[in-house]
Amino acid sequence: MRVSLQNVSHDYEVTETSAAVHVLDDVSLEIAAGDFAVLMGASGSGKSTLLNLIGAVDRPTAGRLLLGDIETSSLREKDLTRLRRESIGFIFQFFNLIPTLDVFENAAFPLSLAGVGRKEIETRVGVALTDVGLEHRTRHFPNELSGGEMQRVAIARAIIHRPRLILADEPTGNLDSKSGEAVLELIRNVHRTQRPTIVMATHSDRAASFGDYIVRVADGHVSR
Ligand SMILES: Nc1ncnc2c1ncn2[C@@H]1O[C@H](COP(=O)(O)OP(=O)(O)O)[C@@H](O)[C@H]1O
Ligand SMILES: [Mg+2]
Repeated sequence: MRVSLQNVSHDYEVTETSAAVHVLDDVSLEIAAGDFAVLMGASGSGKSTLLNLIGAVDRPTAGRLLLGDIETSSLREKDLTRLRRESIGFIFQFFNLIPTLDVFENAAFPLSLAGVGRKEIETRVGVALTDVGLEHRTRHFPNELSGGEMQRVAIARAIIHRPRLILADEPTGNLDSKSGEAVLELIRNVHRTQRPTIVMATHSDRAASFGDYIVRVADGHVSR
């Protein structure tokens, strides 16, 4: 799925305790369908903000944002929710698994939301957990897993509905280098076999080397 930002600006509004924050200033960026793009920039430069805008979790203050041919910046909330559920997979630094659900149910979550039948869920989750090397951990809970294992469950969850866009926000930021490497290899494997568009934010040169190209984020601007 193509990602297109056209003159996008983003401000966080003034609150009682904070001044307005101008994060993105007139950003235009094209990521072609099937690209694996890497966002790099200092902490606070706006990488997560960019991912939230691309993932239609937040709306830009100004400008147009398109996923494929759909202008998400003007969609209604209901349609945004559906688009997120059907077309986007998210991977986070702190995994964001649901602690009260076991590995199977965490990975199945997007399919359960979509109302997919139990038989098909079982088949697809089985395949996804095998792909990430966790088929023997199906009935364990997140607090029984290592960080690397939790992130592999999160990857299974992110790909289970075969999204056309995967957004990863510092997916190795909380992992040791060996687990991080395994996670990066899985992400690269998903890219090679399923050809989703991937946008990944990272601080790590090693992680960045897994992508097709780097988009630098600094001072409210991006450059390729
Ligand atoms: N919800 C928010 N409200 C106000 N300011 C925010 C919010 N989220 C992020 N910011 C600010 O926006 C800037 C960019 O943050 P972020 O996108 O998280 O950067 P990065 O992911 O590159 O570290 C920072 O100055 C941060 O403090
Ligand atoms: Mg961030």
